[in-house]
This record gives sequence, structure tokens and C-alpha cells, in this order.
Amino acid sequence: MKDKSKSRVFSRRNFVKGIGTSVIGTYAAAPVLSKFSMKIFEEAETESKTKESLSLHVNGKKVSVLIEPETTLAELLRNKLKLTGTKIICNQGECGGCTVLMNGKAVSSCHLLAIDAAGSEIITIEGLMSGEKLHPIQEAFIEHDGLQCGFCTPGQVMAAQAILIKNPKPSKDEILQGMSGNLCRCAAYPNIMKSVIAAADKNK
Ligand code: FES
Ligand code: FES
Repeated sequence: MKDKSKSRVFSRRNFVKGIGTSVIGTYAAAPVLSKFSMKIFEEAETESKTKESLSLHVNGKKVSVLIEPETTLAELLRNKLKLTGTKIICNQGECGGCTVLMNGKAVSSCHLLAIDAAGSEIITIEGLMSGEKLHPIQEAFIEHDGLQCGFCTPGQVMAAQAILIKNPKPSKDEILQGMSGNLCRCAAYPNIMKSVIAAADKNK
């Protein structure tokens, strides 16, 4: 038969031994751990030194963030602020897909460093709606079928809004000129034009 008292003594001894080992282990690991924490602390410090602090207004709200200096406005909006309505298509400032408003003017947000937008008022497609109500330009795009795949549409709508901010009653030529930087690969141009003209007509 198994001697229970012996095994209990044995277990207790093992237990005490185990504690001893872990205490010794902890003391032995302490310098290693503190070196490790120092490394993390130094890395965090270096990271905050390489980052820039930026404050701006996005869709009416003040935003203050730490960003890498090379972050574009489009990356800030999409990756950091999760405003994914702004699309990055060419990422070279050539297609207008990433158009947002900066102080009321259309800009290609993929081609602008976020840091250069410091102190600005940025409006993205998410900022056009009033609560649940679509903006008249958004309504016009739906009404006149001004989209096919819809990928370029946020940029088209923001470019149209910039035209109407500058001139609420633009001529057809002014609309053509203002929309010329926004490409649509599925060539929905006739209906895009109809949509912007309809939105402008509401102001006449
Ligand atoms: S994605 Fe910015 S201009 Fe094309
Ligand atoms: S609606 Fe398809 S690219 Fe513009």
C-alpha cells in the first residue's frame, strides 16, 4: 500500500522547493526583466520622438494624433481615423479618387502629407450627411445614376461639392472643368455630369 503521509511530506517538500526555485528564478530574472522593460521604454521613447503631433478638424471634430511624418492625409483618414469612405486608388495624385475638402477646397488626400493639413478643416464624404439625411449632391448622384461600381464616387461627390462651394450656380463648362481631375474607369461620365448639373440646378 502506498504511504500517504510520506507522499504528503514529499509533495510539501517539493512544493517548498518549487517556491524556492521560483523566488530564486524571479530574483535571477529581475535584471533581465528590467533590461527588457528599459528596452521597451527606450523604444517607446524613440517612437514618440520620431512621430509628430498633429491637430486638425475632421468633419467638425477636433482630432489630435501622433503620426509618422511621412503619413499622407488619406492614410491618416483611412487607417488612423477609420474614415474609409475616402478611397486610395492611384495613390499618385492622378485620379481624384481620394478627394476631400480642405478649408472648402478639393484636394487629393493621397498626395498631401497629413502634417501639411495641421489646423485645417477637413471634410470627407462621411461629413456630408446631416444625421441620416443625404447631402443634396449625394441625392442627385442616386437620382441620376451617377455611378456604376461606385469606387470613384466619394471623390466625385467631394469634387462636386467643392465646385458648388466656390460657385453655387456654376455653368456647364465650370462643372466640366471642376470635375476634370476625377477619373471614372467605368466611364459613368454622362450621368456624373447630369448629377452635378442637377445638384447645381437646385441652387438656381
Ligand atoms: S488616389 Fe489620390 S489621386 Fe488617385
Ligand atoms: S463608378 Fe466605377 S470607377 Fe467610377
